Amino acid sequence: MYSIALVIVCVLATAIGQPTIHYEFKEEWQLWKNQHSKSYQTELEELEKHLVWLSNKKYIELHNANADTFGFSLAMNHLGDMTDYEYQEKYLTYQNSNSKSGNYTKVFQREPWMTDPETVDWRTKGAVTNIKNQGDCGASYAFSAMGALEGASALATGKLIPLSEQNIIDCSVPYGNHGCKGGNMYIAFKYVIANDGVDSETSYPYGGKQSSCTYKTQNSVASMSGSIQIKYGSETDLEAAVANNGPVAVAIDGSSNAFRFYFSGVYDSSRCSSSYLNHAMVITGYGISGDQEYWLAKNSWGTNWGEEGYVKMARNKYNQCGIASDASFPSL
Ligand SMILES: *[C@@H]1O[C@H](CO)[C@@H](O)[C@H](O)[C@H]1NC(C)=O
Repeated sequence: MYSIALVIVCVLATAIGQPTIHYEFKEEWQLWKNQHSKSYQTELEELEKHLVWLSNKKYIELHNANADTFGFSLAMNHLGDMTDYEYQEKYLTYQNSNSKSGNYTKVFQREPWMTDPETVDWRTKGAVTNIKNQGDCGASYAFSAMGALEGASALATGKLIPLSEQNIIDCSVPYGNHGCKGGNMYIAFKYVIANDGVDSETSYPYGGKQSSCTYKTQNSVASMSGSIQIKYGSETDLEAAVANNGPVAVAIDGSSNAFRFYFSGVYDSSRCSSSYLNHAMVITGYGISGDQEYWLAKNSWGTNWGEEGYVKMARNKYNQCGIASDASFPSL
């Protein structure tokens, strides 16, 4: 019975032409697609993506209706048509390696001369480059590592030079990273140390996918001699390192949709894991907003995401999201 009905429907549809697809919030959908240069292969794919976008849009709106309770707000962004699975596969590619923990040059120790001001923002001291965009390449680890090295170099030389993530993506593979399929900052640092340097962003520009290694010694603009680890989970040590040394590379659990669509305020989520790390960023400062202490973290998802590309992560809340679970910085 059903199959006969189906055949009739199909024949009718063929006779009439393409079935009309009904999109909800059609204009908003068009606008969003244009804004993020989205195009889909087939009508069916577009319809599927539209449904994902719709459910993300509803999630964002419901969160924002309760933004006072959450303490932060969300916004639709370029990640809006991705399923949770796609988001994790493409973006949450940071990979911890347990074998590295004893391999750092040293573990950070707070020295008696160190003081921690109430607020620190390395952007105001010329130690932070502009927000970058990793695109579809799962290499947050490269952006995190280069962000920390850009800061350390700038503070040592007085010159802020954007460094090449592409150099790391292409060339740290033999050391254990996986190009656009993930890796970690320890291995990125290990590569720069072994390689005696890393090229500038200008000389080795970002391509958004893994290619063969074309590092050129004459274009090297920064180097490092070792990497320093923050004691697992110590936000006190992380604070001292950020205040007294400079930007610090960190990994977090970024798997919640609240993080994915973060827009402003202090991101504070009880659902965040302290040990399941999957995304890397750079801590470029810290402060207090109202009565909420936060870490200022530089992300690599463009300026449309978060507060002009930055996120304020809850601070001194039991190592929330694992902010101090894999923190490290270069020594020059
Ligand atoms: C840490 O050192 C050990 C011993 O040399 C080595 O086997 C391991 O691969 C190193 N880990 C990383 C991530 O480099």
